[in-house]
Amino acid sequence: METVTTIRAVRERVRAWRTGGQRVVFVPTMGNLHAGHVSLIEAARRHGERFVASIFVNPMQFGPNEDFAHYPRTPREDERMLAAAGCDLMFMPDVAEIYPHGAERATRVEVPGLSRILEGEFRPGHMEGVSTVVAKLFHIVEPDVAVFGEKDFQQLTVIRRMVAELCMRVEIVGAPTLRDTDGLALSSRNQYLTPAERKLAPVIHATLEAAARRLRAGDAQFASIEREGFEKLENAGLRPDYFSVRRSDDLGSPTAETRALVALAAARLGRARLIDNVQVARP
Ligand code: PAJ
Repeated sequence: METVTTIRAVRERVRAWRTGGQRVVFVPTMGNLHAGHVSLIEAARRHGERFVASIFVNPMQFGPNEDFAHYPRTPREDERMLAAAGCDLMFMPDVAEIYPHGAERATRVEVPGLSRILEGEFRPGHMEGVSTVVAKLFHIVEPDVAVFGEKDFQQLTVIRRMVAELCMRVEIVGAPTLRDTDGLALSSRNQYLTPAERKLAPVIHATLEAAARRLRAGDAQFASIEREGFEKLENAGLRPDYFSVRRSDDLGSPTAETRALVALAAARLGRARLIDNVQVARP
């Protein structure tokens, strides 16, 4: 695997592969990789012959009081994991390479409706930062396929919408959430948890699963399901931002007839803010 830091070097490598008829699959990340990220590279294998991963902690998607400065950065370990997973190219730009005029003044890409709900309500500007950087990375890498985790379900939905509406030629693939044995979704932010908080954290997945069971059984009392989930998280000692049942295709409000649903939750626990979701297909 080769590591490059410039847009020019990425373009050179990828264009040579594409000219040779190879399909290029791209996995964008913010680094501090764990098995969940590695599973995306494994999913990528089914879609092409060459694999590119980016590692860029994107300042535009962090709020002023968020963890941008403290976000864990482990580039040497990331490089080792990507090489072992069979990645061909790691793109690790600095902030000036991506935002030559500064992140504040950069041209932005926004998906208005979808980016303002759920995460967008509690992290203003976050989704816009994500869609902007992913659009830029797509223009730099020009992949045939890009893989995103279902762990960040709203992010995946926003990216799909952006790609469709801006007529980008990349195909978006969603990959399932990798979890610890107790159900906690793997996340770089789990390391902010104390041992006691780590023991508590699986309640998020357990509560989402309980909601999913009600939905699978045909329960359409969405407000009651949401209230129950929210209260369970509060009673467990977490500080939930939301617990919400939505249509899984566009995150709109479901009706009793909606078949494809997703229950999504975000909650603070100590220094961490954790998100997770469970999809439900009803007959
Ligand atoms: P990051 O949080 O590093 O995640 C990179 C990718 O890994 C995302 O597609 C995310 O959904 C996926 N992922 C994270 N945890 C996972 C898990 N437990 N199982 C499966 N996939 C998982 O998401 C971002 O970075 C950024 O917003 C980014 C898209 C790179 C734009 O800056």
